[in-house]
Amino acid sequence: MKILVTGGAGFIGSNLALELERRFASAAITILDDFLQGSTGNLEGFRGEIIKGGVEDEKLVESLKGKGFDFIYHLAAITDTTVSDEKRMMTVNVDGFKNILGIAGHEKASVIYASSAGVYGNGPAPMKETQKVSPLNAYSVSKVRMDEIALSLNQPRMIGLRYFNVYGPGESRKGKSASMIWQLACRMKTGSPPRIFKYGEQRRDLIHVSDVVQATIRAMEALDKDGPERNVSVNVGTGVATDFNRVIEILNSILGTDLKPEYFDNPYDFYQNHTQADTALAAKTLGFKARYSIEEGMRNYLTL
Ligand SMILES: NC(=O)c1ccc[n+]([C@@H]2O[C@H](COP(=O)([O-])OP(=O)(O)OC[C@H]3O[C@@H](n4cnc5c(N)ncnc54)[C@H](O)[C@@H]3O)[C@@H](O)[C@H]2O)c1
Repeated sequence: MKILVTGGAGFIGSNLALELERRFASAAITILDDFLQGSTGNLEGFRGEIIKGGVEDEKLVESLKGKGFDFIYHLAAITDTTVSDEKRMMTVNVDGFKNILGIAGHEKASVIYASSAGVYGNGPAPMKETQKVSPLNAYSVSKVRMDEIALSLNQPRMIGLRYFNVYGPGESRKGKSASMIWQLACRMKTGSPPRIFKYGEQRRDLIHVSDVVQATIRAMEALDKDGPERNVSVNVGTGVATDFNRVIEILNSILGTDLKPEYFDNPYDFYQNHTQADTALAAKTLGFKARYSIEEGMRNYLTL
């Protein structure tokens, strides 16, 4: 089995590539990443091939045709949701996706690509795959566009995964784009009070990266089994939303601290106040249910 993982040096991609290698020892895994955000430090022990380059580089992507990929996991993207350069966002996230679909078409490879809960914006929660999308920033617009392209192609061997808010080992290199859990834990570990937007009631469906990796591999297995019936976008979340005040309570209990939140005004006009996945389609299509509750997932992550 030959597998391409784009964005494989990033947070989720590196966890995925290492787990694929662990589970499918004989698979040949190639990573394509431009290393702007990713790092070889995330890939310790990885035995496969690493190609450094951008998914928007048509020539480079073209040169991958003929490698015989069976599966393509497309995770490469600009992931900083505060980037407002729409042109750059579209070039990397959307044109890059089209280039990767070009390889998939040529190789007859199945595609699993990363979409995002960002597509739902401030739509009603729990968020269902069938509800109207409502992107609030350039990043989310790019993900909506990817979903539209995927559906319009009617390529049966493809699944888009709408990841909710992912946390866990490997995210520290994302810096300010890392999860709230990581941001808050960094401050609290140094004894500084956690800082959150007024008044901490914003809610997130926070999911441990190992659960996300399981769901992503399940997508490959689902395509393997019943390829012709798949061309869908599926939520990958826990189904539970946790507010930031509660995240701080859990952190205090894990870190043995008693730090009170400092509240400040949210500077963003467009901000998702509540993300929460409806998980029914993931259960049906992927047979997936998150293993970790927020308390267990955070404890596992922060006491490693
Ligand atoms: N982490 C989350 O909470 C979350 C939520 C929803 C969706 N997603 C999606 O999951 C995927 C992985 O996200 P992540 O959290 O691991 O982020 P990440 O930034 O750690 O990973 C993205 C990887 O893509 C690489 N990359 C960026 N531009 C590239 C380009 N032009 N060509 C090749 N590689 C490029 C980066 O170097 C990085 O290694 C992304 O598509 C992201 O949009 C993540």
